[in-house]
Amino acid sequence: MIESGIKKVGNDLVFSGVQPTGNLHLGNYLGAIKNWVDFQNSKKCIFCIVDLHAITVSENRKKLDEYSKEVAAAYIASGIEPKKSTIFVQSNVKGHSELAWILGCHTPIGWLNRMTQFKDKAGKNKEKAPLGLYSYPVLMAADILLYKSNFVPVGEDQKQHLELCRDIAQGFNRSYNTDFFPIPEPIITGAATRVMSLKDGKKKMSKSDPSDQSRINLTDSNDQIIKKIQRARTDSLPFPENNKSLEDRPEVENLINIFASISEKPSENIIKEYSGNDFKSFKQDLSDLLISKISKISNEMKKLLSDHVYLNSILSDGAKEAKEISEKNIKEIKKIIKFYI
Ligand code: TYM
Repeated sequence: MIESGIKKVGNDLVFSGVQPTGNLHLGNYLGAIKNWVDFQNSKKCIFCIVDLHAITVSENRKKLDEYSKEVAAAYIASGIEPKKSTIFVQSNVKGHSELAWILGCHTPIGWLNRMTQFKDKAGKNKEKAPLGLYSYPVLMAADILLYKSNFVPVGEDQKQHLELCRDIAQGFNRSYNTDFFPIPEPIITGAATRVMSLKDGKKKMSKSDPSDQSRINLTDSNDQIIKKIQRARTDSLPFPENNKSLEDRPEVENLINIFASISEKPSENIIKEYSGNDFKSFKQDLSDLLISKISKISNEMKKLLSDHVYLNSILSDGAKEAKEISEKNIKEIKKIIKFYI
């Protein structure tokens, strides 16, 4: 896995995606979207709005169209430029479902049984969980391999899915004695690869957490950000003096990581700057930083969301570009399998 610094290889293609489930939060931004921006100048980038993944959970099957536009607006407001990158909605390009079926036929059930996200999401009621939730990682592999992607920038929670995608690509290549699929590299980078809940440092910051206080949403007002950071859980100990004194202090470590990621300063420098103080001035400065970053994004999102014609044209152009690449690859894949074409 590449943790930082990307080496240039053959067909430099970057692919990633976010589900349109509403409430885009700081974890999505720091763990994923923020890291996409820099790729645009050196590589072909494809950023997808993965609505087929969203419908694997019944509560998400609402407002898909509205939330898809919200994700598109968040991409653009965060610095993804439609002139440089392809932005589109997954269900608009049929190759994703087609390749998911093909890859599913090449994926042993034993590999899927290891996926922890399915176990977490299905909970105790596994028998009632939809088949799509179980095969979610195969669809994700299809997204990536459909474009023969080389790099996939994601948050840490996607690591296991990316490992499966590599196994699927290698398995397919082996079965057909080909090197058609590149083996994609996960890019899990930055100071905040796993942003935790503001209320519980052992839980991931998530859209599905019932408490809105647990996360900073990209649409939060300045007042909401200030209140959420003020109320964010810390502990009764003083501000840490070095990285070692962060052990067993997950909430404090999380806030320092967020600070480091937004300010683009190493966490050691932040610890040095605030050690010996209480958390008040640190939290005030963290709120200021978040406000300056998030308010720019949310204001831009509001502007974009009021211009449906513009957003629709970006998504329609993006789908056209994605179709062009994917249809060519699907044809090649069918030839490799020796389908009648
Ligand atoms: P989703 O919508 O759940 O998350 C989108 C991206 O945000 C990252 N992320 C986080 N990063 C750090 N801390 C957090 N608390 C946090 N929460 C979310 C995720 O790691 C992800 O990068 N399965 C993917 C969507 C997907 C995809 C793909 C990604 C479908 N096909 C192909 C890459 C390539 C997901 O869970 O999205």
